Amino acid sequence: MVAAPLAYFRGEFLPASDAKVGVMTHALHYGTAVFEGIRSNWNSEEQKHSVFRPREHYVRLHDSCNILRMHLQYNVDELLDITKELIQKSGFKEDLYIRPLVFKSEERVANLKLHELSDDFVLLAVPLGNYIDTRAARCIVSGWRRIDESMVPTRVKISGNYINGILAKTDAILAGYDEAILLNDDGSVAEGTGENIFIVRNNIISTPPISSNALPGITRDCVMHLAVEELGLTVEEREIGRGELYLADEVFFTGTAAHLTAVGEIDNRSIGNGDVGEITGALQDLYFTLIRGSNKKYRHWCLMV
Ligand SMILES: Cc1ncc(COP(=O)(O)O)c(C=O)c1O
Repeated sequence: MVAAPLAYFRGEFLPASDAKVGVMTHALHYGTAVFEGIRSNWNSEEQKHSVFRPREHYVRLHDSCNILRMHLQYNVDELLDITKELIQKSGFKEDLYIRPLVFKSEERVANLKLHELSDDFVLLAVPLGNYIDTRAARCIVSGWRRIDESMVPTRVKISGNYINGILAKTDAILAGYDEAILLNDDGSVAEGTGENIFIVRNNIISTPPISSNALPGITRDCVMHLAVEELGLTVEEREIGRGELYLADEVFFTGTAAHLTAVGEIDNRSIGNGDVGEITGALQDLYFTLIRGSNKKYRHWCLMV
């Protein structure tokens, strides 16, 4: 068991603290990097890690690279192999967050372009417990609006884009809340700062479409599937107005880091009874079992390491 997180960098496994880049690195100046967040959930019964839907994450990483004109030298299968090896070498027996990052590594400042610049890749595995550490999050609708796809691509994970959510989340936390909800420029609901959002009213589940500048979340996809196939509920993708948040019976977030987190309060108004709603709870029960590889039907979503 190693004490500190490991990285895979430039063909080597090494302590993450030894994987270094120079101060002139393009990505450091302009946010020209793309990343993924993948959960590796510890299954204590089997004494194995269950990496949740890593293939889908690596396909999205390649999509992000395409948009930033980056060359990632590893295909999806090679990335899966490196991930397995990193987890095995790290030796942690707890939940991990796997962070692949592809970045413009050229050490040249004053260079506002994407082409003719070198790219590099690093993969990290760090312990991560709960991201939103509460049963039912207290949220505010942020004054910051979600970036629009007409300004920067919103359907991939570009590092520089994250300033948008970071501003919103920082302001929410400093005001005493757990998380922020961002509206689009037209006032419709987009998502949380690093999570997709769902509302439930009269047993119908709704979530903003990707065209509302929501990230095509892998957890979102998983929860939509479970709601329809396992709970027999109706799920619709449609524009959601701010007022609908307040009137919902239940609201919840989905995301790799946040898992499936109930929202108990928005703008100082209680949602339902302010705790985990019935449908949210039923989805959580399904979700938390299957991400550890303990549900045979969904074991194919997990890479057991
Ligand atoms: C902005 C944003 N929205 C939504 C999500 C949820 O996506 P996923 O479920 O694929 O983690 C994330 C996390 O990746 C995110 O960064």
